[in-house]
Formats: sequence, structure tokens, C-alpha cells
Amino acid sequence: MESESSSGADSATVPNGTNIVLVGFMGTGKSSVGREVARLLGYGFVDTDDLIVRNTGRKIPEIFETDGESGFRQLETGVLKDLSNAYRQVVSTGGGIVLSEENRNLVNRLGFVVWLTASEEETLRRVARSDDRPLINCDDPSARLQRLMKDRNPLYDGVADLSIDSTELSISEVAYGVVESARVYFAERSIG
Ligand code: S3P
Repeated sequence: MESESSSGADSATVPNGTNIVLVGFMGTGKSSVGREVARLLGYGFVDTDDLIVRNTGRKIPEIFETDGESGFRQLETGVLKDLSNAYRQVVSTGGGIVLSEENRNLVNRLGFVVWLTASEEETLRRVARSDDRPLINCDDPSARLQRLMKDRNPLYDGVADLSIDSTELSISEVAYGVVESARVYFAERSIG
């Protein structure tokens, strides 16, 4: 699998866990923050949604429509497996990637996991203009969002090494927090 700036490395010579994974609800800034973190650290950047679109040649709403949510989730698992030898990558994930235990294990093995959060109001504001997110493309996005957040927050919490509330922060502020915490995390484990 190719990433934007480097590809996976030989698993025999590279320790596991050299990557930074961003998880969290849609609209929490995972992709923008991820790109900035990758830039600051000189890491590669990959986005699991982008990889799925690239691998299948189909857009996300189309995949949901033809293969259902479960079909999309299987594609997410495939992408995470493809990334299992990734080296110094920042991996931005789709908001539902934590739903399966298999995915949560795969995410944890990749490295330092950061959960980005934002308030309900701010999340709703950020995702309001998107029609690329079939799960909240409904009559009452606010109610749907509340339910999904309630179901998923414990899963994000369980998988994350750190959480950052992005509600009142700029992309660079969040990225700075991720970078500094990742340095400590990797140094403590002699990873890098
Ligand atoms: C989803 C979030 C989306 C995308 C898909 C499903 C979810 O990604 O993977 O629409 O289940 O929350 P973002 O979190 O990048 O918007």
C-alpha cells in the first residue's frame, strides 16, 4: 500500500507502533490535524476514508448505498490490515472505525492513538455542510449525532492513549498537543 509520502517498511526490521493514529467522531478535525502533525514530524500521512475511495474507485455514500454500512466496515478493516507494517505514518481514521473489536486491536497495534473530541454543537456546525457523510444525512442529524456519540464515546475512550478536546482550539494548537505527547509516548517506549 502506498501512502502520501512513504510506504510501509519491512516488519522484520521495524518495531511495531511507530505511527500516530487519530480517532474520533466526524468533524473533529482528524484529517486537517493529521496533515499538520505529519508535516511537523516529517511523517507520512494517510486517511483511511481516502484509501477506501482510492482502492475501490467509489465514493463513500455510494459504498454505503450498494454494500451497506457493514460492507464499508469490512473495507475499513482491510485498509487497517494493509497498514499493519506502516512506519512513521500519521493515520487519520473514519469516525466509525472503532466499532469492531478487530479494528480496535489493529488501531492499537499501529502506535500512539489520539482521540479528538468536539462538543455536539460544534460537531454539528462542522459537519452540517457535508453530504459525504451518509450516517448523518437524515431528517434529524442532531438526534442521530447524539445517539452515535453516546454509543461510540466509550469505544474511542477504550482505544485512545490521549484525548484532546478540539472545540475551542485551532488546527495548529491541536497538532502541537499531539506532537508533544507523541514525543513523550515514543521516548518512554524507545520507539522511533
Ligand atoms: C463515518 C465517518 C466518515 C466516513 C463514513 C462513516 C462514521 O469519516 O468514514 O462516512 O461512521 O462516523 P469521517 O469521520 O472522516 O467523517
